[in-house]
Amino acid sequence: MKFFLDTANLDEIKEVASLGIIDGVTTNPSLMSKEGNIKVESHVKEICETVKGPVSLEVTASDLDGMLEQARLFSSWNKHIVIKVPMSENGLKAVYKFNQEGIRSNITLVFSANQALLAAKAGADFVSPFLGRLDDDGQDGMSLISEITEIFNNYTFKTEILAASIRHPRHVTECALLGADVVTMPKSVFLKLIQHPKTTIGLEKFMADWKARKDSL
Ligand code: G3P
Repeated sequence: MKFFLDTANLDEIKEVASLGIIDGVTTNPSLMSKEGNIKVESHVKEICETVKGPVSLEVTASDLDGMLEQARLFSSWNKHIVIKVPMSENGLKAVYKFNQEGIRSNITLVFSANQALLAAKAGADFVSPFLGRLDDDGQDGMSLISEITEIFNNYTFKTEILAASIRHPRHVTECALLGADVVTMPKSVFLKLIQHPKTTIGLEKFMADWKARKDSL
C-alpha cells in the first residue's frame, strides 16, 4: 500500500517525508488556497523534488479546453505531476485526451462505485473516492471502498484506488484490509499511525528501569 500526504504545506511535507515512507502527495484547490499567496509553479516543483513520487495537482477550469491547457502546463513542470480532474463529463473527456498525450490523471470527488468504474473505463491512473465526506453525512464511506476494490478485482483496470478524505487511523487500517492501492491522509492522521498508548507506557517503563540500574555499560 502506498501512503500519500494530503496537503500542500511544504513544511508538513518535508517533515513527514523525512520518515522515508511517503510515496506521494495529493493537493486540491482548497489545500492550495490554504497556503496563501504562494507562487504555484515553484511551490509545486518543490513538493515534487521533496517527495519524488506522484503529486496530484487539480485543474480549476471546468471546460474541456481549459482543463487541457492547464494539464499541459502543470505536467510540463515536473515528471511527478499527476493531473486531478473532477468526476464530470468534461473530466472524463479530458482523461481520454490525457492518455493520448501521456499525461497522468487522478479523477477526484468520487462518491459512488459507478463513478469509480467510469474513471477506470476512462483509463485514469488514480481514482479518488472521498470516504470521510460520506461518513460525515452519516453514510458508510468504507462500503464504497469495499465495492470499488471488489469491482476492480473482477477486471484488469490499470487505475489505482486512492482512498481520500481520511479522517482517522481506523480508516487507514480498513483501507489496507480491503486492498486499496493508496491512502492519502493529512499529517495529523499520519502521525497518529505511529502512536499507541501501550507503546508510550512501555517505553517509559523501559527507560525508568534502565535509569534505576546501578551498573554502567
Ligand atoms: O484530497 C482530497 C480529499 O482527501 C479531501 O479530504 O478532508 O477535504 O474531505 P477532505
